[in-house]
Amino acid sequence: MARKTRRLNLAQGHDGSERGQGWRGAGSGRALVIFPQYRRAAQQQAGKVARDPERRLAEAVGLVQAIFLKVAYQEAVSLSKVVPATLLGGGLVARLCELIADLEIEVAFVDAQLTPVQQRNLERAWNCKVIDRTGLILEIFGERAQSREGQLQVELAALTYQRSRLVRSWTHLERQRGGLGFIGGPGESQIEIDRRLITERITKLKRQLEQVRRTRGLHRKARKAVPSPVVALVGYTNAGKSTLFNRLTDSKVFAKDLLFATLDPTLRRLKLPGGREVILSDTVGFISDLPTDLVAAFRATLEEVVEADLIVHVRDIADPDSELQRSEVLDVLRDLGLEERLDGSVIEVLNKIDLLPAEQANIVLNQADRDGRAIACSALTGQGAELLLQAIEDHLALGRDTIQRDVPLNDGKALAWLYSHGEIIAREDDDAAAHLEVRLAAADIARFDRKFPRKRSDA
Ligand code: GTP
Repeated sequence: MARKTRRLNLAQGHDGSERGQGWRGAGSGRALVIFPQYRRAAQQQAGKVARDPERRLAEAVGLVQAIFLKVAYQEAVSLSKVVPATLLGGGLVARLCELIADLEIEVAFVDAQLTPVQQRNLERAWNCKVIDRTGLILEIFGERAQSREGQLQVELAALTYQRSRLVRSWTHLERQRGGLGFIGGPGESQIEIDRRLITERITKLKRQLEQVRRTRGLHRKARKAVPSPVVALVGYTNAGKSTLFNRLTDSKVFAKDLLFATLDPTLRRLKLPGGREVILSDTVGFISDLPTDLVAAFRATLEEVVEADLIVHVRDIADPDSELQRSEVLDVLRDLGLEERLDGSVIEVLNKIDLLPAEQANIVLNQADRDGRAIACSALTGQGAELLLQAIEDHLALGRDTIQRDVPLNDGKALAWLYSHGEIIAREDDDAAAHLEVRLAAADIARFDRKFPRKRSDA
């Protein structure tokens, strides 16, 4: 799939000015990746499921590679205290400065939330572009968004983020001047102009998004008129959702070893073994420490999940952080108000089983066997895909009844209706009629009997 060339204007410094000359945005340049962790925070986390800094660093590297930058140096650093001006201690800043010059680094990614002041100070000290976690995630989202709605959402999230940073740096400037409150100082008025422009753009974007959403809502309604259940794939980023989606639907959705390859929900019809059709929806990957306003910005994308009849949670069972990723995904689902559905309507897919050594793979397979709601599979090799389809079918059949109906053979419409809305379990034909055993949702049974009143005889 062609990569998008549209870019967000995030290659700017903390206050909107061009900084770190040489960085032309995503897709170019050499990067340095730093994952800072406080020793005290690490100690506090001990006992809880804490993520190993090296794995966190590997995730940070993946994030940077997702915008096609080359990672020339990476390091997980342990901090004993926070330095307000630069976050990192003076010695570390100086050591990295040398490295940055030697390796001709253009972008330094600090996997933390930086204040605008910290970002500015680090950019000055290192003479390169500095980007923090939120900034980078926004950059990735900007690269990936395909649909109009996705693009609007990203721009809105980016502007909201930028505006909040302007506010903070403005307050900071005011404080520096002793809070005397001069009106219209040069820096201040520029920031105010920027704020006004951003606010206007945000208002306009919100209106446009509202319009797109309304249209989308109408589409969803139209889909509901022809009721195919919706099955939503969710999961931590890179768990294999798109690969599974492709495997199940034979389509070619962008599946690559890049974090957040999927941003816009992709919908496709899928035929289950029993013949019933469902709509499968692939959604944005979740990730830890995603700022809440970013999650909110993608709420519309996640609406498919909220509305879904069944949620399929795809997990990378070969990732050492699999358990932690699982609980983070469940937290997001809870945030979306899906608390009470988490027990009932979620199937767990233990994906990438092909990556496990045989012995471990067997343990996972046995576990999945015992736990009726988990399916071990490999989206890459196709192992377990049939089982998964069967599980989806069984799950959706819950709440449906099996009925028997005799339909005259010449009533093609009634027959077609039953085939498209239900699952035909058995069929026997004589000269005049088809004797069918069909599994149907209760509402569909009533609908069928209303629609075809005289053309059936109950068995
Ligand atoms: P996001 O879009 O970031 O949410 O990712 P995703 O969950 O859609 O993951 P995607 O399908 O893009 O897969 C990520 C990487 O894992 C790709 O390189 C896939 O080829 C690989 N992958 C997916 N499923 C399997 C699997 O069953 N086995 C192996 N070995 N690799 C897999």
